[in-house]
Amino acid sequence: MRQSKKDLLGMLRASGRLTKAQWIALLTDITEDDRAYAAELARAVSQQVFGRRIFIRGIVEFSNYCKNDCLYCGIRRSNAKAQRYRLTDDEILDCCDEGYEIGYRTFVLQSGEDFTYTAEHLAELVRRIKAAHPDCAVTLSLGEREYDELKLMREAGADRYLLRHETANAAHYGMLHPPQMSFAHRMRCLRDLKSLGYQTGAGMMVGSPFQTTEYLAEDLCFLQDFRPEMIGMGPFLPHKDTPFAKEPKGSYELTLYLLSLCRLMLPHVLLPATTALGTIHPQGREQGVLAGANVIMPNLSPTAVRKKYMLYDNKICTEDQSSDCRFCLQQRMKSIGYEVAVTRGDYAE
Ligand code: 5AD
Ligand code: FES
Repeated sequence: MRQSKKDLLGMLRASGRLTKAQWIALLTDITEDDRAYAAELARAVSQQVFGRRIFIRGIVEFSNYCKNDCLYCGIRRSNAKAQRYRLTDDEILDCCDEGYEIGYRTFVLQSGEDFTYTAEHLAELVRRIKAAHPDCAVTLSLGEREYDELKLMREAGADRYLLRHETANAAHYGMLHPPQMSFAHRMRCLRDLKSLGYQTGAGMMVGSPFQTTEYLAEDLCFLQDFRPEMIGMGPFLPHKDTPFAKEPKGSYELTLYLLSLCRLMLPHVLLPATTALGTIHPQGREQGVLAGANVIMPNLSPTAVRKKYMLYDNKICTEDQSSDCRFCLQQRMKSIGYEVAVTRGDYAE
């Protein structure tokens, strides 16, 4: 007999695992009631684990140079229209100092794959941030690096690393990336991160070109096996100067539903309501929290460079200053009965 979605969601909450066929069933013919029920269960789990406290992370987008050419991404190498910039170490530290003042206790250093920053250089930067703010966590989001580089940065004090797997299906990976990029290497890198003791983040875009229900089910199978400490997931949004400019954006509702599934699968996972979710819908981040997310990652980059870090069109907050976003978020969370926590917000079981 076919299992109802209610039964499947109950099993997911109880065991954190489903078969691929069961994931596909959960992702097929989703109704409004299914989404509401999943969100209700996921929100209850999230409140059990975290209360009504939302962790915030300040993202410093310190370079938009990238050696890669991902077909979906606005800062891909082939986009000659992107105005490239790099922040100096002192500018990055200034962002962290400003962030600390307004209550951030995690700094995310994010960039394109910019190999002018050597691992030694980045390790030194991590050491400087940790020395200035010993009570803070540092998260890196730099793309793929080799084991020895990741090790150096980990030993310098980096706590976490975000590297979305993008898709768990090798053929689909090949449709989103140029042939020079390797699915196997990305997976390798994710395993390295875990083995080095980083709190590791994986994740995918929802509604990326060529994505199927089966591929999404494979993503969920991968996540339940890999058990990342963090999952970064937002809707695909086209960027006008990429090969995917004319592709449709991902579904807002499906993204919310998948956030709920991830919460039920991994109750303790650090799960952001992403900027892409806030871009696709004005209340996206609030609704993400109500669907089971427990993290928000506002921008901490200098306003002068924000418009240059455009992964997709119409990204929000590019005119704002760091303190605007910080207090905007506080209000937004308050409006749904949540509060922003001034704490590192590490993964804990
Ligand atoms: N739409 C949505 N998300 C995107 N990313 C990159 N380009 C886009 C886009 N056009 C996501 C990728 C990447 C993360 C930093 O941003 O998943 O891993
Ligand atoms: Fe940036 Fe609201 S979060 S202005």
